[in-house]
Amino acid sequence: MTRPEVPAERKSLVYQPSGGPVSGVYLPAELRLRDPGHCCCCGSPERQEDGARKDFSSRLATGPTFQHFLKSASAPQEKLSSEVEDPPPYLMMDELLGRERKVYLETYGCQMNVNDTEIAWSILQKSGYLRTSNLQEADVILLVTCSIREKAEQTIWNRLHQLKALKTRRPRSRVPLRIGILGCMAERLKEEILNREKMVDVLAGPDAYRDLPRLLAVAESGQQAANVLLSLDETYADVMPVQTSPSATSAFVSIMRGCDNMCSYCIVPFTRGRERSRPVASILEEVKKLSEQGLKEVTLLGQNVNSFRDNSEVQFNNAVSTNLSRGFTTNYKAKQGGLRFAHLLDQVSRVDPEMRIRFTSPHPKDFPDEVLQLIHERDNICKQIHLPAQSGSSRVLEAMRRGYSREAYVELVHHIKESIPGVSLSSDFIAGFCGETEEDHVQTVSLLREVQYNMGFLFAYSMRQKTRAYHRLKDDVPEEVKLRRLEELITVFREEATKANQMSVGCTQLVLVEGLSKRSATDLCGRNDGNLKVIFPDAEMEDVNNPGLRVRAQPGDYVLVKITSASSQTLRGHALCRTTLKDSSANC
Ligand code: 5AD
Ligand code: SF4
Repeated sequence: MTRPEVPAERKSLVYQPSGGPVSGVYLPAELRLRDPGHCCCCGSPERQEDGARKDFSSRLATGPTFQHFLKSASAPQEKLSSEVEDPPPYLMMDELLGRERKVYLETYGCQMNVNDTEIAWSILQKSGYLRTSNLQEADVILLVTCSIREKAEQTIWNRLHQLKALKTRRPRSRVPLRIGILGCMAERLKEEILNREKMVDVLAGPDAYRDLPRLLAVAESGQQAANVLLSLDETYADVMPVQTSPSATSAFVSIMRGCDNMCSYCIVPFTRGRERSRPVASILEEVKKLSEQGLKEVTLLGQNVNSFRDNSEVQFNNAVSTNLSRGFTTNYKAKQGGLRFAHLLDQVSRVDPEMRIRFTSPHPKDFPDEVLQLIHERDNICKQIHLPAQSGSSRVLEAMRRGYSREAYVELVHHIKESIPGVSLSSDFIAGFCGETEEDHVQTVSLLREVQYNMGFLFAYSMRQKTRAYHRLKDDVPEEVKLRRLEELITVFREEATKANQMSVGCTQLVLVEGLSKRSATDLCGRNDGNLKVIFPDAEMEDVNNPGLRVRAQPGDYVLVKITSASSQTLRGHALCRTTLKDSSANC
């Protein structure tokens, strides 16, 4: 999902070599990974480029001192927008500028990656790059990648092969095309990508986007450049993501990065690093700006949003212990103090009563009553909770190191349903994890039936190197069995979701209009409070705030819709009137 263009906040060109204290000594990777003999496109670099490279090499020889890197490694994370740093000594200031080179960004994977794309673009835009949506006119192509399952990575390898051809065919009259891999795959595969794909010029891990102008400047000279260092505190708090679609009604706001949970199947803690939260004040500032731009929905985004803990304000760093959901444990030492998710949710929901608030993804372990109470009480916090179960078998959950049993999970579901009547639930499930038997699978099927989720995200297990499951467990469920079990889960999920969604038929629901339906130009499409898609005819209706006036609903309007039919993924109905979130009287 994209958002409207945000006016560039900072006009000055800021160079920040590193996002803050890093989990290793900062060495610019082009010094470690460079390939002096490498030719970027055709085997015989153009003369102009050759000169630039010689010039660059001589500057490298007299280049950065050890102190420079030590300074880089301890640079504080947040800088005042007026501060302009010197470029590193081996680069001239103007080499860090985009000089109107055109960047084409392509995003793969989850919503976190969409947000990362906006952050990377915000940084490049401030460095003088232009953005293009036309691959053919791009000077720089950046792929924001995903590693969560093997299939996601295979898609990127295939794409790289296509891009390679584009690079080779590029006329010599144009500046050489540069290709970069950003995000999780850059982090996970580092040397393998540089060695295997000589055409890749730039690698930037999820915590290295501030370094993109420098990496691209190094790549300009024909060398490969990489920064895959993970940070302990990079949250890009001061980088306002740039949204590109002016008609969007909703936005994602990143509130934390990384994950400390170490579920045994998951690569995320290795590719995105340690869990860290963005300061509350900077989140509120972003939400306020989005509200001023007229956006009507914000989704707080992170790997474990409800484990949020802002320790940046000293007065809140007391030793109050953490209340986990009953029957839940963590894989890490209990954390203390800081501003927690309930506080953030409370503050964010007060910014604009007409703005819907959602959050994703939470972890079931962190649902204290305060959070549930807040969701129940506030009209603008959507009564929709993603509660990733992963499996319905306690035995498998233990092997996954999820920190709860089936019983504890089910008890939490009941507690949530009691605390928030009408709550809409969704979940993630993995089919065919190491050691999963038919009996375990049947337990997952029965959990799907018992909870009756409104939405579900179901995956076949994909073994990932580095994870605990890779080292300690056997990926022993044959591929065809994984797929068969996945199919069964999908079928059961659909049956149950259809039943759950049919309970809405006859109800009047508040729908935030997104635009025309993709399938029909005479229908509008929007989302209800539970985040389910609602389709209804684009017709004139009453406007509650202007009695007697007939209006057509526009993107960003709230409309009351009478639901007439439901499937596993969509509701259909007809609009009754245009209204506001405050004034709405949705009846279920
Ligand atoms: N194989 C399959 N699915 C996975 N997920 C995470 N790691 C794997 C893996 N190795 C799923 C989980 C998680 C979602 C984002 O992706 O269900 O909640
Ligand atoms: Fe991966 Fe578990 Fe962290 Fe989710 S909570 S990102 S599944 S390690």
